[in-house]
Amino acid sequence: MDAAAHGVTTHEASERLQNRGLQLKPLCAEDASRLARDRHPLSPFRQTRLEEDAQRNWDLFYKRNNTHFFKDRHWTRKEFADLRACEQATGQRLVVLEAGCGVGNCLFPLLEEERDVFVYACDFSPRAISFVKENPLYDEGRCFAFRCDLTSEALTTNIPMATIHVATLIFVLSSVHPEKMLNVLHNIFQVLHPDGKLLFRDYGMYDHAMMRFKPGRKLSENFYVRQDGTRAFFFSRELVAQLFNDAGFLEVSNEYVFGKTVNPKEGLEADRVFVQGTYQRPASGVVAQLKASQ
Ligand SMILES: C[S@@+](CC[C@H](N)C(=O)[O-])C[C@H]1O[C@@H](n2cnc3c(N)ncnc32)[C@H](O)[C@@H]1O
Repeated sequence: MDAAAHGVTTHEASERLQNRGLQLKPLCAEDASRLARDRHPLSPFRQTRLEEDAQRNWDLFYKRNNTHFFKDRHWTRKEFADLRACEQATGQRLVVLEAGCGVGNCLFPLLEEERDVFVYACDFSPRAISFVKENPLYDEGRCFAFRCDLTSEALTTNIPMATIHVATLIFVLSSVHPEKMLNVLHNIFQVLHPDGKLLFRDYGMYDHAMMRFKPGRKLSENFYVRQDGTRAFFFSRELVAQLFNDAGFLEVSNEYVFGKTVNPKEGLEADRVFVQGTYQRPASGVVAQLKASQ
């Protein structure tokens, strides 16, 4: 398994995210016909097995790769302008949830960069959570990491209802079966403070990681399985908007981020496409009004 298959940059590669936009770039004719030809999903039996083994496959991923695979996501600081604005607005310690935290590549930069913050971090891989807790920067006064399957286990078991000011969901929803994505969003909605924000970033359609799948790896439209059994969905802006709308969120922003991953050592130059959005839990009054009008 190489880093590009997981659509991430290694330490030797650098990511240059240049453009933002609302439209996907059209595919060249060769790529479009290759994608169209690959329409033989795996058998229902294998698909069910992949779903049953989802947690195990991610846990094995962390067993093989330890904490060395994903790069620290320092870019969150720039994207976290919302976060600092919330801090000033509430005048309180900011409470953050990192949903699907892996080994803490967002969590630890955040703890270092934001002084007055408490971060909940969860993932369904027990091994990932152990790595988070073993990190020397893990400080029980400032963070709490716990195991949780976001599709089926209520976050409210570990986090009081409606207390999170900002949640992040970064490259996580893509590994969830499309039929269970809404469960994840509903689950996070429950712990978000009214007006609280969810920052989303994930793979966009035609990202390099999608274009490099060989025939036979497709599970359903825009959903693929890697060699190691972990899965990846590639989103359009429209689908992201629909999912968040169905879960009761208000849209603040939703755009494509286009860039290139450059790795001179491996002679790799790959086109990257991500979808990035900010969504908000409506204020209490708005929820009451919506309910009354239904
Ligand atoms: C690509 S990694 C991203 C990790 C981290 N968010 C980051 O940006 O570095 C995807 C993570 O989602 C977690 N994950 C996938 N499905 C999950 C689920 N149903 N519940 C909780 N975590 C899940 C995996 O264990 C894995 O750590």
